[in-house]
Parts: sequence; structure tokens; C-alpha cells
Amino acid sequence: MIGTILREAGERASNCSVLITAAACFLWFAGDMWPAGAQTALSAEEARLVEFGKEIFKSKAVCQYCHKWDASGDQGYGGNALSLRATHLTPEQLTEVVKCGRPGTGMPYHDRFAYTDKRCYGHTREEMGKDMPPAGNDFLSQREVDAVVKYLFAKAVGRGPATYEDCIDFWGTNTRQCDPMKQ
Ligand code: HEC
Repeated sequence: MIGTILREAGERASNCSVLITAAACFLWFAGDMWPAGAQTALSAEEARLVEFGKEIFKSKAVCQYCHKWDASGDQGYGGNALSLRATHLTPEQLTEVVKCGRPGTGMPYHDRFAYTDKRCYGHTREEMGKDMPPAGNDFLSQREVDAVVKYLFAKAVGRGPATYEDCIDFWGTNTRQCDPMKQ
């Protein structure tokens, strides 16, 4: 009796895990196939987080000084700041770069405690020596880092060139910043 119940439960569990895998696969494929603009709309909470991330990108951490407003990258201040639209980093890797910066380059770190212990690439400031990246304009909390990563994946990563609409979305309409992009 107990044996039958256990067996049934086991079968149900394994069927279920097949189903879950199928669903996950579908989402995985669909995520790749759908053009960025057709992705399901963000929930209100996600939309708020994205908006918060935008302010960090724009003002608090001034990522845009080096990476440009549309995150397409720029040569100049701080070195050759890579395009975040074209990056192949995963959200986890991108989070690490924001928190720890990139050793030996101008990409700053934003975790207040980076390199005070071994949380960043297993190295302390002393061990980094001349490869120690600069500190960011401001330190960011985990929530702020999550928000800026969320923002980049919602608005920049994997997208083609920015459009006039993207520009208005970033700067608003009270500026002439986007006029050159008007067709
Ligand atoms: C002072 C200029 C500067 C600022 C400010 C800056 N970056 Fe960077 N960033 C760089 C440079 C330079 C690189 C290129 C590093 C390299 O050569 O690998 C870079 C690289 C990166 C990368 C790695 C991209 C890849 O594909 O490998 C990410 C992600 C990134 N920056 C995100 C950010 C975010 C998010 C912010 C704001 C929180 C920010 N950066 C602020 C200069 C800057």
C-alpha cells in the first residue's frame, strides 16, 4: 500500500519535472526568438525597478558618461568603454563587473567593500597592485546594482542601434538632446 503510494508520487514527480523542463525550454527558446520589442510587458514592479535603474545609470553612477546615454559605448573618458548593447555578458557577470569594476581598465567598481576582502575575483587591493580599478562616482547598494542590471537588460543589451523613441524615453521631451536623431 505504502509502496504504491510512494511509486505513484514518484511517477508524478518525474512527469512533473519533464513538464517543468519543457516549459523552461520553451521560455528559453522563445526568449531568443522573439524580437526584443515583442517581449512580454514588464509588471508594474519591474517597470519601477527599471526606472530606478535608469536614474542610477544616468545620475548616481553616471555610467552614461563613459558608455553614452544609450550604452552603445564610447572612446575617451575612462578608456574605451565597451558597448553594453552588444555585450555577451550574462546578468550575473554584468553584476560582477558593476560591483568589482574590471581590473587593469578604467571600468570602476561600485561595491563599497570591493577589494577590502576577497569578494572581487578573489583579490584584495594590495594583491591588485597597479591593476586596481578606480572607484565609481558613488557606491551602490545591492538593490541599486540589481536595478541598473535590470535596466540594461530591459533597454540596451541585445538591442540594435538606439532609436529616437529610445532617446526621448531616456532624456524626456524638455531637451533638444534628441533632435539630431529625428528623421
Ligand atoms: C569612468 C568610465 C566608466 C564608467 C563611469 C563606467 N564604466 Fe563600464 N566600462 C568602462 C570601460 C573603460 C570598460 C571597458 C573595460 C575593458 O576594456 O574590458 C567598461 C566595461 C563595462 C562592462 C563590461 C562589458 C563587456 O561586455 O565586457 C560593463 C558591463 C560595464 N562597463 C557597465 C557599467 C555600468 C553599469 C556602469 C555604471 C554603474 C559603468 N559601466 C560605469 C568605463 C566606465
